[in-house]
Amino acid sequence: MTDKKLESILQEDRQFPPSADFVAGTRLNADSLAALHAAADADHEGYWAGLAREELQWDQPFTVTLDDSAAPNYRWFTDGELNVSANCLDVHLATRGDKTAIIFEGEGGDKRRLSYRELTAEVCRFANALKSQGIEAGDRVVIYMPMVPEAVIAMQACARIGAVHSVVFGGFSANSLRDRIRDAGARMVITADGGHRGGQIVELKAATDTALAQGCDTIESVIVLKRSDCGCDMQAGRDTWWADAVAGQSDTCEPTPLNAEHPLFLLYTSGSTGKPKGIQHASAGYLLHATLTSRWIFDLHDDDVFWCTADVGWVTGHTYVAYGPLAVGATIVMYEGAPTYPDGGRFWSICQRHGVTIFYTAPTAIRALMKLGDDIPAQYDLSKLRLLGTVGEPINPEAWIWYHTVIGNKRCPIVDTWWQTETGGIMISPLPGATATKPGSCTRALPGIQADIVDEAGESVTQADQGGYLVVRKPWPAMLRTIWGDNDRYVETYWAQFQNRFYVAGDSAHRDNDGYFWIMGRIDDVLNVSGHRLGTMEVESALVAHEKVAEAAVVGRPHDVKGEALFAYVVLRGDRPTGDAVEPLVKELRAWVGEELGAIAKPDDIRFADNLPKTRSGKIMRRLLRAIASGEEITQDVSTLENPAILEQLRGDD
Ligand code: WT7
Repeated sequence: MTDKKLESILQEDRQFPPSADFVAGTRLNADSLAALHAAADADHEGYWAGLAREELQWDQPFTVTLDDSAAPNYRWFTDGELNVSANCLDVHLATRGDKTAIIFEGEGGDKRRLSYRELTAEVCRFANALKSQGIEAGDRVVIYMPMVPEAVIAMQACARIGAVHSVVFGGFSANSLRDRIRDAGARMVITADGGHRGGQIVELKAATDTALAQGCDTIESVIVLKRSDCGCDMQAGRDTWWADAVAGQSDTCEPTPLNAEHPLFLLYTSGSTGKPKGIQHASAGYLLHATLTSRWIFDLHDDDVFWCTADVGWVTGHTYVAYGPLAVGATIVMYEGAPTYPDGGRFWSICQRHGVTIFYTAPTAIRALMKLGDDIPAQYDLSKLRLLGTVGEPINPEAWIWYHTVIGNKRCPIVDTWWQTETGGIMISPLPGATATKPGSCTRALPGIQADIVDEAGESVTQADQGGYLVVRKPWPAMLRTIWGDNDRYVETYWAQFQNRFYVAGDSAHRDNDGYFWIMGRIDDVLNVSGHRLGTMEVESALVAHEKVAEAAVVGRPHDVKGEALFAYVVLRGDRPTGDAVEPLVKELRAWVGEELGAIAKPDDIRFADNLPKTRSGKIMRRLLRAIASGEEITQDVSTLENPAILEQLRGDD
């Protein structure tokens, strides 16, 4: 980590305490929060054990809270058994069976509501369909779906029978899908003919066919939801329409009692190598954290309408769409399409029409909507909103204030929630009825989460505003269990740097005088593009896989909507293109990366050079490339450059 990254730069002094109105009805006020902190600090394991007993319905109660015998592979509630789907659905049938669980709106405007009873019946039918196709507990099932209720139904159905789902974001390409299917060794893909996004149809089944045609030997069957009219090929003996798969299936399906540590899902995320990591989560610990944070941080009450805009392809769409809010019996909104379709008022129109009270989205979406001007949200009645949230990247104070003023009408607390695919649920966040917020800070760690900032030597950083590595000192129930198929990489990535003493998140952060955390960004070669994690190595590998490319280096540059944008420097096998030859090649390479990885990974800029700047030991000078990409002045020593003229090329001046 460079010194520059460790320096804290943000200075933001404004504070926003929760209003008396909000505090009056909140789930967790300052006193109850303090009591939870005290309990957790006094007895870490006892605190979690108590909550696990109170909050979850167990088929077999646990006696072991934390097994650290194989640390850093921690295991929680190891001799207990439960079923996650039963805890999200069946537990509500007696008390709120007719309450709406899901309010769905398609991009084209089609709507659908499912009560808890109806959702449970759909999940059971689909779980029975999975069983009759031979899917058993422990089998991996890949879900490659648009943002429709069936995506949640498929996830919950897997959980009900103990199949391990791995959702692949529908924006990822066929090749990405293929790699994830292979790594997971999945037996089945659940997909749709197509989904709707930005007025277009994303042909998911066609992409699935492309992936499977490249050899995914473990796949035996494909279930296809009919969602659009794009049509698709169906391969006899392998592919079944969703409607046919569930036809005649019973609408009851006994949830299978599963060990607390039974893997609930794998979710692939980018790291600092070219290969995505299959983050493996367990059942009970994950569910506990999803339940608690949904209730506490989103302050969910029975009459709330909760809309988390994340796609189920990301962890946010797992914890705060498919699991957490259902576990606490909330009504959720699901929307299939783009935020700006048919215009920039779509999100606000959905909030108005469905009476959304709690809205959770990413800073990139806030910035994009902010750019469209205040007149658009002003046309909608947003008076039902009472709480706002953000996740995915640091929110700049300007966007925070806009969100607070224009969307929240200065009434709604904002919860800026820090967490990761690996942490399973929110770790550092304000409690909306207890914490005074500061624009740009995720404030403090939750009770039972021992977050800290340490220096290179692993010593706690005590001085205010001094940056360091964000770490978690004690294991927590929702933490990842391992990287699927590569436990060495798990240890290496998250633990080895400080001799397994604490979990290393990969972010740098600092704390202010009030002990509030300010996240400064990733310390590895991982970028945060529109709130999505992208490994620069992945994009580099995709580029060099192109026949014309000899070498590539990808760095991030600041971007006012996406947060960070990808900037690629490319050395071709032949001559460096100039003049009119540049544009077609840029197009070709962008399209190529789109095919290899998915549209979100297409570099915003591609610049060609005769070679890349390297140190004497042959390392690419990434800091130099970052400076050039951001249009900053070059301060580092460039005297070692073999060919100083390439600086002009890298700058685009030649
Ligand atoms: C990385 C995790 C967790 C769901 C979405 C992203 C960044 C996340 C915040 C926040 C500043 C944040 C971090 C983290 N991040 N939330 N509130 N403030 N940064 O999940 O893809 O696993 O990415 O997102 O850098 O490490 P993910």
